[in-house]
Amino acid sequence: MWIPSEGGRIPVMMPRVSSAIPVAERVRGFSYAIRNIVVEARKIEASGRTVRYLNIGDPIIFGFRTPPHMIEAVERAMREGDNGYAPSAGILSAREAVATECIQRGMAMNPDRVVVTSGTSEGIELALTALAGPGDEVLIPVPTYPLYTAVLAKIGARPVFYRTDERRGWQPDVDHIRSLITSATRALVVIDPNNPTGATYSAEARRALVDLSYQHNFPLLADEVYADLAFDGPVPAIAALNPDAPVITFSSLSKAYLAPGWRAGWLAVALTDRLDDVLAGIKKLADGRLCSTGPMEHALAAALTGDRSHQQAFRDALRERAHVTFERMNAIDGITCVAPTAAFYAMPRVALPPGKTDEDFVLGLLRATGVLCVYGSGFATAPGDGYFRVVFLASPSELREIYQLIADFTGEFLAGRAR
Ligand SMILES: Cc1ncc(COP(=O)(O)O)c(C=O)c1O
Repeated sequence: MWIPSEGGRIPVMMPRVSSAIPVAERVRGFSYAIRNIVVEARKIEASGRTVRYLNIGDPIIFGFRTPPHMIEAVERAMREGDNGYAPSAGILSAREAVATECIQRGMAMNPDRVVVTSGTSEGIELALTALAGPGDEVLIPVPTYPLYTAVLAKIGARPVFYRTDERRGWQPDVDHIRSLITSATRALVVIDPNNPTGATYSAEARRALVDLSYQHNFPLLADEVYADLAFDGPVPAIAALNPDAPVITFSSLSKAYLAPGWRAGWLAVALTDRLDDVLAGIKKLADGRLCSTGPMEHALAAALTGDRSHQQAFRDALRERAHVTFERMNAIDGITCVAPTAAFYAMPRVALPPGKTDEDFVLGLLRATGVLCVYGSGFATAPGDGYFRVVFLASPSELREIYQLIADFTGEFLAGRAR
């Protein structure tokens, strides 16, 4: 190629047109196994086999339906012309509804401390970006929901993993957390009720966690997206246990309101002046992405102040599926499983033969049966520990069929006969 210059045209070296354009280094550390594993499933489907997707926590795929009054609220907003940009923190009616919801859950709140987000996911990303950078540490549970480690990889901060204890129903190990606190600790992530374990935390553990954040002056990032899906009824806000603690709570319409594709969520920052700069930082970052999806914001007030009767029906359906999962999994030789008490996840463990990994088991299961789970190491457990996550949203009869396939495969795998 030639480019013009004062003395005429001079040649410049151009890279070969076919050479691959490099991606930024940070992409290497960004991993989200729940979706990555679908690549393998697609290959199985291409060979003509049916895949049963137990990898993603989307109730809509399994026949649960968004409440009609929420759909009407969005439809009305669109028809009435609310299709422009919303304020970057969200429309007032949505922020008021979230503030009222927080108060009903025991967390003091006002609409100025609420930001409407594109799902819990965006709230988490905004908060972590506002709080942590290279050299900073964030305390994360193991197993974890993988968005946390992915976002930390992106912003260059370091995840510091704390144990949750399977033998105690996946309760957080508070002494372990205490031992991991350093001057670089910038936040403590608490996912309660939990994905991927389906656990709900004890009152003592919750109290200890919120007190740690109060005493050590780092925010507790409370992922409460499953708060309405504990089988025994909604879990109060963790912030209610210590009103002075620097808690930021996150939730959305994705799970308990059956609208995951709408990307309608929120974060709410506790009323302590210790968090005023963080709130300002979050709002500054939120300005840059203009707003969350405008018409969907109108569903927040409809959902949070309207009829919630679908939630009791949903909880009952989940309790039944959790029971089937617990019974069937523990009936399989070589597999143990803690009983979930919330949401739609279980984290069984297979006693792996030496040298095998959780990924060997999960990929072998997929290839032999078409059943797609996610390997535990996608949630930061050790590959040799043999954990895998099951999403139990399918009907009880379909789950029984699937668990029979898992049982048959596990027998073959442990006998060394599966690939
Ligand atoms: C613990 C946890 N946090 C956050 C999210 C993201 O949810 P949202 O759809 O609200 O972004 C999920 C989704 O599965 C989740 O399980």
